[in-house]
Amino acid sequence: MNPLLQVQHLSVGIQRGRTYLLGVDDIGFQVQAGEMVGILGESGCGKTLTALSILGLLAPGIQITRGTIRFNGLELKGLSERELCGIRGKDLSMVFQEPSLNPVFTIGRQIAEPLRLHGSKNKRLIQGEVLDIMDKLGLPEPAKLAAAYPHQLSGGMRQRVMLALAIVCKPKLLIADEATTALDVSTQAQILHLLKRINRDFGTAILFISHDLGLISRLCDRLMVMYAGKILEEGTVDEVFADPRHEYTKGLMGSIPQQNQKGKPLVSIPGKVPSIEEKPPGCPFAPRCRKATSRCTTRFPEPLSLGGEHLVRCVLETEYV
Ligand SMILES: Nc1ncnc2c1ncn2[C@@H]1O[C@H](COP(=O)(O)OP(=O)(O)OP(=O)(O)O)[C@@H](O)[C@H]1O
Ligand SMILES: [Mg+2]
Repeated sequence: MNPLLQVQHLSVGIQRGRTYLLGVDDIGFQVQAGEMVGILGESGCGKTLTALSILGLLAPGIQITRGTIRFNGLELKGLSERELCGIRGKDLSMVFQEPSLNPVFTIGRQIAEPLRLHGSKNKRLIQGEVLDIMDKLGLPEPAKLAAAYPHQLSGGMRQRVMLALAIVCKPKLLIADEATTALDVSTQAQILHLLKRINRDFGTAILFISHDLGLISRLCDRLMVMYAGKILEEGTVDEVFADPRHEYTKGLMGSIPQQNQKGKPLVSIPGKVPSIEEKPPGCPFAPRCRKATSRCTTRFPEPLSLGGEHLVRCVLETEYV
């Protein structure tokens, strides 16, 4: 079966004078219908640029310099804004960290907007669908809440409204970019629960972007570990957890707070993600990798299959087998 989303050799360039510096550097992956896939990585790794490329929402001065993005049998790269508008909010939807609701319209009207935009005309039917989706997402007293304005809601509630808005047209794929990051832990857990329900009840595939491995492991079937614009390791959550092979993945796993470690500082990976200007040659993680050798700075390896869906891109792994 063809994947729902297939990204191949995607590079995203940020314009600097006459050249483009790569914020995403030749990545490829797929998402099957109904699958939950995580993209994990620290700040500045290219997660959002990947999401925005798929959605056709890259800012001026940033563009796809190479690659293809097939969604639901259609090549998205090169579609006009009008064609993209016919897909976004309908089959392909998104929710970001900041709930971006319009302060001057009621909640109900905003949730109804995608339905109106994508063809529903009947006001009563639209109203019914809005209340139904609000109810399904556990928004209390939907009829009353639909008449409220965004500023009357808590942050967690606004994020639920954003989710309602994102899925009211029952999309095939929902991209959630740090959708729970700004929320407190219990609200975060509620949103995760909702995402699971959305996936189960509507068969919506979810691309869940986060710097939090704990959240990804609780939600997703599969994950990709991204660093400085590249995918360094990928596999099912079980495969990667059982046998993390890239030093970066191991470092991220060491950074998860453990229940019994309360009060102890987090182990983090020394150093920081290179900016697009200072990306080193070879493996971009080499300067922070405690096992790096001179070979790591000269080439970036092809993926090595570790069985199942597990792949790693590490010079050391590749050369020692
Ligand atoms: N509008 C922009 N102008 C210039 N550089 C940008 C822009 N957007 C992203 N970048 C650069 O591209 C790289 C990838 O950024 P991106 O926003 O995709 O990271 P991210 O993984 O989503 O990080 P975060 O976890 O902080 O959201 C970074 O080096 C970032 O500085
Ligand atoms: Mg981001």
